Amino acid sequence: MAIELTPLPLPASADPSKFVDFGREVIGVNPGDLTPEQFAEIYEALYKHSALLFRNVTLTPEQQYALTKAFDPEAESYGHGNNKTQSTNESILHPDLKTIPRVPQVQLIGNGIVTNHEGLATAALKHPSHKTFHKTVVSEEDESKGYTRFYRWHIDAALYDYNPPRVTTLYGITVPKGDSQTVRYDDGTGDELRVPLGTTAFISGKTIFEILPPELKSLAVRTSVRYAPHPYVWMSRARAMPTGLGIENEGLELPVEELPEWEQSKVETLPMLWKNPVTKGLHFQVHPCGAQELIVKALPEGASRQGALYPDGAHIKDLGQIRALLYKMQRPAIAPSLVYPHDWREKDLVLFHNRGVFHTVVGAFKPDQVRAFHQCNLAASDVPVGPTEEDVAKWA
Ligand SMILES: [Fe+2]
Repeated sequence: MAIELTPLPLPASADPSKFVDFGREVIGVNPGDLTPEQFAEIYEALYKHSALLFRNVTLTPEQQYALTKAFDPEAESYGHGNNKTQSTNESILHPDLKTIPRVPQVQLIGNGIVTNHEGLATAALKHPSHKTFHKTVVSEEDESKGYTRFYRWHIDAALYDYNPPRVTTLYGITVPKGDSQTVRYDDGTGDELRVPLGTTAFISGKTIFEILPPELKSLAVRTSVRYAPHPYVWMSRARAMPTGLGIENEGLELPVEELPEWEQSKVETLPMLWKNPVTKGLHFQVHPCGAQELIVKALPEGASRQGALYPDGAHIKDLGQIRALLYKMQRPAIAPSLVYPHDWREKDLVLFHNRGVFHTVVGAFKPDQVRAFHQCNLAASDVPVGPTEEDVAKWA
């Protein structure tokens, strides 16, 4: 039977014209047991459509690891290094991840008490809450009315020492039922988005780039981002914006001498735009929380200087300036009409192009709402490729 790809069902909030290529359900194939020919089709589809959904899947941790690794056969360790998040206690990712002992590249994530699970006697899981991360929080009264927030818009990436994973696989094993919730942006826009309980929300990095005005496209194609050493430790005392998109600029980052030991050679400097290896499109992929410096190249010869930002290039180190600029570039793309909130069913497997999308945990569960998911991504064997000379000539 041939592999069939059908568009994902979009919520009424979404603008279908912005999701023409984004997201497909894959029918007629077992993702745990693909032939090389079938995998080649899935590989193409993932890079073309950014997120693939398989329903009613039975998948062992070994199969999930094998599927994830097929996208990057030379990759070995989990995206943050195996057991790395456990040993770095200060990291803000520490409480969210439990490793499957048999397959340490696969993490158990979710909410509530899970027992006898793949070699884990008991795992106490906690769905990340905006209340432990944002500077301001939704009041308990509003929370009881179903209001919530995006937790943290991100790319799965250590952003230090390990290359950003190409693909993340998320497998929903136990999915609690419950009322939908309303994400409030709380940034003065009045934006709200109705979402299924415990959704994972996605936006396209390609859309982020496409909807930028020309002067910001020119800036994006010329800019690289330098991330802080041990970014998740660096930001551990800082608090996030109410949209979950970046950090409030309050000077709460750890000073360099308080960070765990680090080496300059492991600090990552990545292009702002990452080139899709199949479509050759450009995806705006900046993790706003960890960005510490922006390095802007001068306009190429012959480019118009009219209205150009930093026409002679710049090395921006002021966090306030960096964050304001990134927010201006990324905020339009989390508008309610541009968000795909996945409505999880048990046995859903979602694969997403981690170098082409952003995603976030959303909402809040009660302690007795048990959720168990397996997540896998692998620190990539290569660094993301930035814009080509032709791209710079076209957009700068
Ligand atoms: Fe993630």
